[in-house]
Amino acid sequence: MGPDQEKNFLDSIVDSVIAVDKDGKIREVNQTTLKLLGYKRKEEIIELAFEKICNNFSVSSLKDKLPLAEQELIYLNKEGKKISVSVNITNRISYPHDIIFMARDISKIKGLIDELTHSQEELKTSYIELKVSKDDLVRSEKLAYTGRIAVSIAHEIRNPLTNVSMSVQQLKKGNKIKQEGFKHIDIVERNIGRINYLITELLNCARPAKLDLKPYDIHKILKDVLESNKAKINLQKIKVTENFNSNSSILKIDKEQIERAFLNLITNAIEAMPRGGNLTIITELSGKFFLVKIHDTGKGIPEKDIIKIFDLFFSTKSGGVGLGLSICYGIIVSHGGTIEVESKSRKGSTFTVSLPTEQSFTHRERVGGRKNKNAGVN
Ligand SMILES: Nc1ncnc2c1ncn2[C@@H]1O[C@H](COP(=O)(O)OP(=O)(O)OP(=O)(O)O)[C@@H](O)[C@H]1O
Ligand SMILES: [Mg+2]
Repeated sequence: MGPDQEKNFLDSIVDSVIAVDKDGKIREVNQTTLKLLGYKRKEEIIELAFEKICNNFSVSSLKDKLPLAEQELIYLNKEGKKISVSVNITNRISYPHDIIFMARDISKIKGLIDELTHSQEELKTSYIELKVSKDDLVRSEKLAYTGRIAVSIAHEIRNPLTNVSMSVQQLKKGNKIKQEGFKHIDIVERNIGRINYLITELLNCARPAKLDLKPYDIHKILKDVLESNKAKINLQKIKVTENFNSNSSILKIDKEQIERAFLNLITNAIEAMPRGGNLTIITELSGKFFLVKIHDTGKGIPEKDIIKIFDLFFSTKSGGVGLGLSICYGIIVSHGGTIEVESKSRKGSTFTVSLPTEQSFTHRERVGGRKNKNAGVN
């Protein structure tokens, strides 16, 4: 094919064709290339360094690698706008030192793919949000329902229990009981105490007490809770790290209740590490929320249990009542906060409590919720 024939042939190709010489300079282009890159005449582009139109692409890097198919490159048009192209790169038969770039504009396809990927991500996020909302809805429905039942059962138990307690007192006052009998009365009294405790806990859980909000230092609460657990922490050889990053730790909270919530979380963390480990407490501000992360390196929570741990009476511990987290959940939610858990079996758990730094929550009884994140991958 003579040079003129070759030119005609090149111009008839619907893809962009650029021939580049061994020095990286553009030797020949076809009409499609001019259209693609926004040039009017071939003279404007011939002799330009290929790197100028192909975003820093070095022709010398192609040595011994040709031919290359479907390389994704970025061309720059006359105004410097980026155009995504898919390029086949070969040697030019008529001039063996030249390289031919045959490119197809894929910016539209790329745009569509980007849009699709974006939509897919949005869908995924919406799905997760929907699932979390559904879990929260099921949870609050379940809590409301079990709460109503619990309250009526608790009342029904409390009345006969008061009678039993009064009768025991009377028995103790009389002098008909022998030494052996007092032992049994002690047992009865202890058990009455236990049942009373459980009923009180259950009632607290079903109807969290009205909040008595006052400014209080969360860091002080955390330090106090750690101090009250010092003996257990030392006995179990647990290393405690306080990573308090936020300077403004004064929040308007119900001190007694928040202390109770953190006591439950820290107690659980300690109980998860009977043979030692690390307990790390991190605080930080995140937007309008004050975060407290309680991280342990304990036994973790299996995936199948994650959904149940906030349920009333769910416990995997011998002697555990299974009210700690339900109480904690009620307290945090009534403060307008949320509680999230991330856990891996045998690796440990992190409970993250977010409390609002602004007091809008005082008008709402329940605005928060629980979220389980990446829970329990075994
Ligand atoms: N940090 C943790 N690591 C591992 N498992 C945990 C942790 N926190 C909670 N759990 C799991 O969640 C369950 C429920 O916890 P929750 O505090 O409600 O009850 P409990 O600790 O069993 O009893 P209690 O009513 O005395 O607190 C626990 O039995 C345990 O299986
Ligand atoms: Mg507990």
